[in-house]
Amino acid sequence: MHTFYQQSGLYCAIFAPTKLMRNSIDRVLQMHLTRKVMRVLDPACGPGLWLAHFAAQGAEVAGSDIEPSAIEQATKLLPKRGVRVMVGDMRRPPDELGADFNCVINLDNSIGHLADYNDVAEHFASIRQRLAPRGVYLVGLALRERTDTIPEGVVYERGPIDIPGGGFAALRTESLGLQPKTRCERIRQIIITANVKDTPTVIAEQYDLLTFTFEMLKDILMAAGGFELLGCYDATDEDLPSKPFRKGAGDVLLVLRRADDMQKRTGKKLGKKMGKKAAAKSPKKPTTSATAATPTRSRTAARSTRRT
Ligand SMILES: C[S@@+](CC[C@H](N)C(=O)[O-])C[C@H]1O[C@@H](n2cnc3c(N)ncnc32)[C@H](O)[C@@H]1O
Repeated sequence: MHTFYQQSGLYCAIFAPTKLMRNSIDRVLQMHLTRKVMRVLDPACGPGLWLAHFAAQGAEVAGSDIEPSAIEQATKLLPKRGVRVMVGDMRRPPDELGADFNCVINLDNSIGHLADYNDVAEHFASIRQRLAPRGVYLVGLALRERTDTIPEGVVYERGPIDIPGGGFAALRTESLGLQPKTRCERIRQIIITANVKDTPTVIAEQYDLLTFTFEMLKDILMAAGGFELLGCYDATDEDLPSKPFRKGAGDVLLVLRRADDMQKRTGKKLGKKMGKKAAAKSPKKPTTSATAATPTRSRTAARSTRRT
């Protein structure tokens, strides 16, 4: 359980995507979609900030999140028409959300919250089933090799900022580096608030996020049924510049499409070797000793921008 994710008003105030980030995502979608965005799914939608962005463009949007209070907030935030949101696990988002999405969006290494690589493979397989022909999956994740290191230190700071409804808050996110056994990145996060209604004055939490070796990711994507890579972007820069898809690329935004949709050879096929290796080598995350609270190293491109 992540306490920060339960504080949806606070989350919205701190992590609302910037105009630059919204424009960058729109640009990436225009590059890879032949049609405009019609139906969007966010399988870890939180309070629905990205769904709101696409709903404002006239798309039908659907989302789920494991955190009921986030869904409550999304229900308040989003328009009623053309919107479906409900509590659900991203391993298999609720069937009631529908299928035939021409855009699935899941930024910020939210898949890093899953418990292990089997869960990630289940997630990709279920997203693959929901994609419309030629639909794209925009997914943020961290590519790290076994020998990679991540320097310990502050990765993101925000505030103090005013919170709608009163009060103010500041957030600091630190990386404690890659854990050698699990290859998870350990994140420590502290949010301090003053006079924010129904909100603790301190939220302090620590959690681990899965990272992926290059080969492991390819195996997972193949085990999930196969995807084509249409684009790879640097998720630490809100401009989302292109980045080579390679070992240790770090925080990236990938644009994927179902492999069987590939008519022309425009993309790179992911997962040449069929593998159960990934699943077989799937360490379970340790339970973190989140003594205070818990939540997110929200790694939307925007959020990891200020790695210092
Ligand atoms: C970094 S936030 C991203 C929220 C939203 N997509 C955004 O970009 O603002 C990660 C979200 O993943 C959700 N989450 C974590 N584990 C989940 C799971 N197994 N299934 C669905 N949602 C999950 C959290 O509750 C949280 O809202």
